Amino acid sequence: MAVSFDLFAGFVDFAPAGSEVRDILAFDADAFDDWLRDQTIDLQNWLKLADFKAGIGQVILLPDGRWILGLGRAIARARERFVLAAGFGKLPTGAYRLANELPNDLSLDMENLGCLLGGYRYGRYKNKQAQQPQLMLPQGCDADRLKTMAMAEALTRNLINTPANDMGPDALEQAAAALADHHGAHMNVVLGDALLTQNFPMIHAVGRAAEQAPRLIDMTWGNTGPQLTLVGKGVCFDTGGLDLKPASAMGLMKKDMGGAANVLGLAHMIMALNLPLRLRVLIPAVENAVAGNAFRPGDVLTARNGLTVEINNTDAEGRLVLADALALAAESPSDLTISMATLTGAARVAVGPDLAPFFAQQVADADQLMQAAAPAADPVWPLPFHTPYEKMIEPDIADLDNAPAGGFAGAITAALFLRRFAGDQTRYIHFDIYAWTASAAPGRPKGGAGQGVRAILTALPDLLDLPK
Ligand code: BES
Ligand code: ZN
Ligand code: ZN
Repeated sequence: MAVSFDLFAGFVDFAPAGSEVRDILAFDADAFDDWLRDQTIDLQNWLKLADFKAGIGQVILLPDGRWILGLGRAIARARERFVLAAGFGKLPTGAYRLANELPNDLSLDMENLGCLLGGYRYGRYKNKQAQQPQLMLPQGCDADRLKTMAMAEALTRNLINTPANDMGPDALEQAAAALADHHGAHMNVVLGDALLTQNFPMIHAVGRAAEQAPRLIDMTWGNTGPQLTLVGKGVCFDTGGLDLKPASAMGLMKKDMGGAANVLGLAHMIMALNLPLRLRVLIPAVENAVAGNAFRPGDVLTARNGLTVEINNTDAEGRLVLADALALAAESPSDLTISMATLTGAARVAVGPDLAPFFAQQVADADQLMQAAAPAADPVWPLPFHTPYEKMIEPDIADLDNAPAGGFAGAITAALFLRRFAGDQTRYIHFDIYAWTASAAPGRPKGGAGQGVRAILTALPDLLDLPK
């Protein structure tokens, strides 16, 4: 199949060395007041007239050609992410150098990252592309790592932002193939009816009503080190199937492959940074469509691992396709298996769009992810695999129910469902992400979003005991 997807389109790099640079003074609001006292009366008046107080996102050009960017006060910064990017994005095109030190509650690396992330624009369908300001790499930053993180985020956003007419299972497979190609990874695909002969019945059942055949993408990379397995929900569009979603809920469902987009972003970072581990990425890529051969409410499916599942809502399709992929993952040894999925509306109700909730079998794993969140500017929060709720996913006539009535603890029951397939022996973490930025924020343009992957990347050396 042709390899054509422009993986990192929209990524804005650091300014090339030798660019003509302008200086930025980035000021905490109190530090700005101190600085202002030492300036000429003319300049003081100038800034007063402009009502410049160095609030977060405020920018002003000084007569000598320098720019001042406001960073507000510490108490205001604690409520935001990427405060440098809040002003940086407002600067005219050009190359800029940070000429002073940031307040010590800010991480230079993450503020730089915010500026890279904020420069991204999704331009596939726009004839005119806006130029973005670029930052010169300051001393003491891990440029390769920041660049890799920003490229991974661009990849994730590109995959999610591309609408389902151009990002169906075929295109998702092509994009995964392009990424595998980029890093010399190996990729295998189980396509269409082969899903039946090779025993992935639920991936087939969910995806069989769509024009583009359902498939399981299986990418592997690395020869030595611990085995990490990533599983991402690749529902390229979720109509809800026969239990059709209302229009208001369907509108955003091109993002239902956000789990796949996130694991591919994470895979990019792992491979680009050449982490000493063996990686496997499994993506069930399907469209949950409506047609005469669609699976129905009431159907009982038999999963790859032999468990039977009563379908009580065809809109709870993500757990079905992930189940077969997780069952495959459990057939070979894995030191850690992580799934990522836009799995439930309940996860959004619980924690809102900016926080990535996750379930970890081991408390120590949850702690490590929590500790990695702040330094990676990637908030995550644990929810429980509450075993007593197992009864909620057990219907009368089959082993499992894909959509328990009542709707209590919807994110937890979905996670418990997945755990049945991950295998008892597996160290398992599951992320139920939103993968979307509904209203633009500094470093986070509106649209598809990576969630949890920088926290995972940052925690990986501890999680897998990698050499540091
Ligand atoms: N893709 C949706 C979940 C979703 C909706 C994620 C909106 C993010 C934003 C998923 O396939 C779904 O529809 N889940 C149902 C499950 C229910 C029928 C048990 C849900 O959460 O309502
Ligand atoms: Zn659904
Ligand atoms: Zn879905």
